[in-house]
Amino acid sequence: MGIKFWGFLVASVLVAYYIYSPIPENVENRWKVMLIGAVFKAVGDVATIAEKLGFAHYMDIIMKITAMDYTPPVSDEKVIVTDTRFNNVPVRLYVPKGQPDSLKRAVIFLHGGGWCLGASSMKSYDHLSRRTSERLNAVVVSVDYRLAPKYRFPVQFEDSYAVVKYFLQSKVLERYNVEPSRVCVSGDSAGGNLAAAVAQQLLHDPEVKVKLKIQVLIYPALQTLDLNLPSYKENGHLSFLPKSLVVRFWSEYFTTDTSLKIAMETNQHVPAESSDLFKFVNWSNWLPERFKRGHIYTTPSHGSSKVGQKYPGFLDPRAAPLLVDDVKLRGLPLTYIVTCQYDVLRNDGIMYVSRLKKAGVPVIHEHAEDTVHGAMAFTESPFILTAGQRIENNYIEWLNENL
Ligand SMILES: *[C@@H]1O[C@H](CO)[C@@H](O)[C@H](O)[C@H]1NC(C)=O
Repeated sequence: MGIKFWGFLVASVLVAYYIYSPIPENVENRWKVMLIGAVFKAVGDVATIAEKLGFAHYMDIIMKITAMDYTPPVSDEKVIVTDTRFNNVPVRLYVPKGQPDSLKRAVIFLHGGGWCLGASSMKSYDHLSRRTSERLNAVVVSVDYRLAPKYRFPVQFEDSYAVVKYFLQSKVLERYNVEPSRVCVSGDSAGGNLAAAVAQQLLHDPEVKVKLKIQVLIYPALQTLDLNLPSYKENGHLSFLPKSLVVRFWSEYFTTDTSLKIAMETNQHVPAESSDLFKFVNWSNWLPERFKRGHIYTTPSHGSSKVGQKYPGFLDPRAAPLLVDDVKLRGLPLTYIVTCQYDVLRNDGIMYVSRLKKAGVPVIHEHAEDTVHGAMAFTESPFILTAGQRIENNYIEWLNENL
């Protein structure tokens, strides 16, 4: 047997290994999802190997790869796009040209990427902000908060908060011709986490007089106490956002010490003295029946290791907005939450829907039955996911009616 045969065999095994992942039947654009998943898996493997060989940090390698996707700020006939700084934090600003004299609405957007990756200049985020600005004739502020592993919690939160606080000042709103009663904060994934945390903090900040009208949380991460929720059990292996990557993101948010990651992998990171917090993520109380999907609740075990006490950031509501009493939720603005069926973070979002409702906050919950985490990032050719376009359209349309 010749070299061709062996070459063919090796290539087939690699293709099968990367492409084949058990994607559920009803996922929209199933083959495209598998293909994108294969690319994710390959990128992750390259980064893992390079890190093991000591070339660079895992996240820095992925960052370099995603940097190929950056696009400069380009204005067109409808929107003026500039990179600037608010309160010393870099932002990409989108100011619509339409109806220059009328007061505008505003969206402050926080991108995803597990607190480690992503940028407002990534094509998918740049295009989303541009479309949001155009269609709503709104000012969009897309925030480039600093990232892990270089910067840890609470830097990501504080940068986001600094921008929101800066923008909500009367003189700044006036400068951009924004109507103070029509400002929203929005984010996807880790950005949804930051948006939820920012909205909570604003409620109790006496220095901020202008209130948010809306918060939008698109498949947000909201807690790390229980990484064994039904959505983790069902989707932990999917290459779109495997549990291993979520654990890596969460632990990188707090420390370089890999013992936190190891403790999180086995759900043993919560110190015994913090076990009263489990009630906030007790899914047997917070998931509606149809989302329990036959799973049986068991209380997560406490960590015997001291690692949770050493890095208590993950117990802080600024990192885990689910971990607060109802009192802290009361008064939050009208909320729009998107969750996806095939997403480890599905239950985080759904539990927050229940918690907010119980606290009397008006909530709109949009659940996408047919897609995976991050779908909204795939709205540009050649990797268009129909479900992602639908989520984006519904979101912008809803904002148009409610903001
Ligand atoms: C979770 O909720 C169930 C049902 O209400 C309850 O029996 C259990 O004690 C709770 N566990 C924790 C840790 O809150």
